[in-house]
Amino acid sequence: RRILLINGPNLNLLGKREPHIYGSTTLEDIETQARQQAHELGVEIDTFQSNHEGAIVDRIQETAGWGPNARETDTLGKRVSAIIINAGALTHTSVAVRDALAAVAIPFVELHVSNVHARETFRAHSYLSDKAVAVICGMGAYGYSAAIEFAAKYLKIDGE
Ligand code: DQA
Repeated sequence: RRILLINGPNLNLLGKREPHIYGSTTLEDIETQARQQAHELGVEIDTFQSNHEGAIVDRIQETAGWGPNARETDTLGKRVSAIIINAGALTHTSVAVRDALAAVAIPFVELHVSNVHARETFRAHSYLSDKAVAVICGMGAYGYSAAIEFAAKYLKIDGE
């Protein structure tokens, strides 16, 4: 049982960018904590961040053994059972990320640090939400812990 945690554009700046909105926790803190939590829950976790839409599409495709960087480890045996994705601004723009998630057909949790519904109206629309198993927003960095705990439980229910 393996979780893939994807962070999209500008999330490498967590802790530095608009701290009144996104808080002071860095992505490094989040990923370190995620690995520790996954270990405690007995699941594996891979983390990936990119500012590039195509790189995110490639990474999602890899989970099915497709795409230019497909690796042996991502195919059967170490199959990704759930994806947690904070797609950043791509949430509101990217049909390509939506299509990649649909193509690999891996259940995913959509995550946002901020409450996207309490901000500019363009953030209220997501290309991912209607395909997500769950959507988390407005919990700050804690949202990542909640998502990992949920994913681990969900995977158990799934019996994988
Ligand atoms: C975000 C919300 C998005 O609207 C924004 O573009 C981001 C971060 C969040 O985590 O709150 O980059 O996904």
